[in-house]
Amino acid sequence: MKKLKDLIAMKQEKEKISMVTAYDYPSAKQAEEAGLDTILVGDSLGMTVLGYESTVQVTLDDMIHHAKAVRRGAPNTFVIVDVPFGSVGVSDSYDIQQAVKLYRETEANAIKAEGAHLAPFIKNVTRMGIPVVSHLGLTPQSVGVTGYKLQASTKETAKQLIKDAQEVEKAGAVMIVVEAIPSDLAKTISNSVSIPVIGIGAGKDTDGQVLVYHDLVKYGTDHKPKFVKQFADFSIGVTALNQYHEEVKAQAFPSEEYTYKKQIMNEVDER
Ligand code: KIV
Repeated sequence: MKKLKDLIAMKQEKEKISMVTAYDYPSAKQAEEAGLDTILVGDSLGMTVLGYESTVQVTLDDMIHHAKAVRRGAPNTFVIVDVPFGSVGVSDSYDIQQAVKLYRETEANAIKAEGAHLAPFIKNVTRMGIPVVSHLGLTPQSVGVTGYKLQASTKETAKQLIKDAQEVEKAGAVMIVVEAIPSDLAKTISNSVSIPVIGIGAGKDTDGQVLVYHDLVKYGTDHKPKFVKQFADFSIGVTALNQYHEEVKAQAFPSEEYTYKKQIMNEVDER
């Protein structure tokens, strides 16, 4: 398993870090078999797996339930688990309890918290020994306020984002995810901090890339953001299901090939 020090070394040696989301045992198993450096149990599971409109409905218990399955599927991969909307930001002691519960029960290697306003939280839980990844730029938990659009696209907001990245690094963040920001800004941020910066919709000059599993294999998704490349088309599952449905109707399935041959009824006394 890659450790934090390995991920930092990869940044220093300019080897890109790969990250994909996973939410269950099979997707995690695939990610590990495929050799991904890191897995993110993203709260995007709200949309991809649970069918919600946004990440806002996802609870701490949802994250724990799914991250435990991911850990079982990928025991040898660095796993990061999202701190979901509204589960911290209450009081220092409550926030620490929530972070400890998430980290301990999931056996993840790090937790991820959205927004630079959580720098004090990052500081507190880092002191407890919990590695925290910060998520800046477009933070999906705040889309009710920001909308899904390019962030930090003015001089002032770009400058602020550079400061935010430096602030979360100072607070103890071990990595930063930057989402939907101009690629030149992402490059500057990556060069201005010593921790790995992983981009999504942030161009090629970050220290690594993350994509949502369901987006990259086109599984159950109707909308394709500009920055998503579909590397496979799992919507072929619909074709398979339809063929199964038709074969059941036509009594073509199960054929002899899929039927146990042993005859028992001549031995059963039906009286
Ligand atoms: O929840 C998630 O999948 C994420 C990625 C978009 C980075 O936070």
